[in-house]
Amino acid sequence: MRTAADVRSLRATVQAWRKDGQAIGFVPTMGNLHAGHYSLIDLARRHTDRVVASVFVNPTQFGLNEDYTRYPRTLVQDSAGLAEHHCDLLFTPAVETMYPYGPERALSIHVPEIGDTLEGAHRPGHFDGVATVVAKLLTLVAPDVAVFGQKDWQQLLVVKRLVKELALPVEILAGPIVRETDGLAMSSRNQYLDAEQRAQAPQLHAILAGMHASLAAGHPREAVERAASMRLKRGGFVPDYAVIRRAGDLSIPTGSEPAGLIALIAAKLGTTRLIDNLLLA
Ligand code: PAF
Repeated sequence: MRTAADVRSLRATVQAWRKDGQAIGFVPTMGNLHAGHYSLIDLARRHTDRVVASVFVNPTQFGLNEDYTRYPRTLVQDSAGLAEHHCDLLFTPAVETMYPYGPERALSIHVPEIGDTLEGAHRPGHFDGVATVVAKLLTLVAPDVAVFGQKDWQQLLVVKRLVKELALPVEILAGPIVRETDGLAMSSRNQYLDAEQRAQAPQLHAILAGMHASLAAGHPREAVERAASMRLKRGGFVPDYAVIRRAGDLSIPTGSEPAGLIALIAAKLGTTRLIDNLLLA
């Protein structure tokens, strides 16, 4: 696996591959990689000839009370894992490379509506940071295909909207959520859970499955959402939301036919905020 920290060597490598007629896949990450990330590398690999991954802890997507400086940086392990998964090139830009005018003075892309609700409402500015860095990374790497995980469903929609509106010549692929055997969605944040919280955490998935079952049984959406919030509280969580939305644009559905809907939860266990979702068939 090659590595590049600067734009010039990233571009030289990618352009050489492109000249050879090879298709380029790209998986952007903030590092601290787990099996969920590696499944995205594997997915990119199945669709393209060459896979580029980036590890960049993006300062502009962290809120004031979210600890950018304490985000785990595990580049040595990440690099080994990426090589094992046959990643061809690892791009590890410095903050100055991504933000030549500094993160505070950077241009900022706001994706309205889809970026304002749910996570956008609970983490103001978060999706501006995501959209901005993803636009920059897609411009720098210029891949044919870029892969994002479905665990961050709203992020995936924000990225799709960004790509469509900027007419970026890249296909966005979605990688399914990878779960532990007890149902807990893989996340870098799971490592912050203590033993008791780790035992409680799989309820998130169980509650999402319950929301699906209740909706399929004909219960009204609002009642399903209320019951899910109550179950979360009883299970030791502090919920930010437990909702059913249209999967395509996160708008509030009018009927309760589950097709095309998604159940989404964000809730805190102690100081750790977890999110998860379930597409409803
Ligand atoms: O999902 C992530 O890890 C980040 O939000 C991303 C897409 C790499 C942008 O920093």
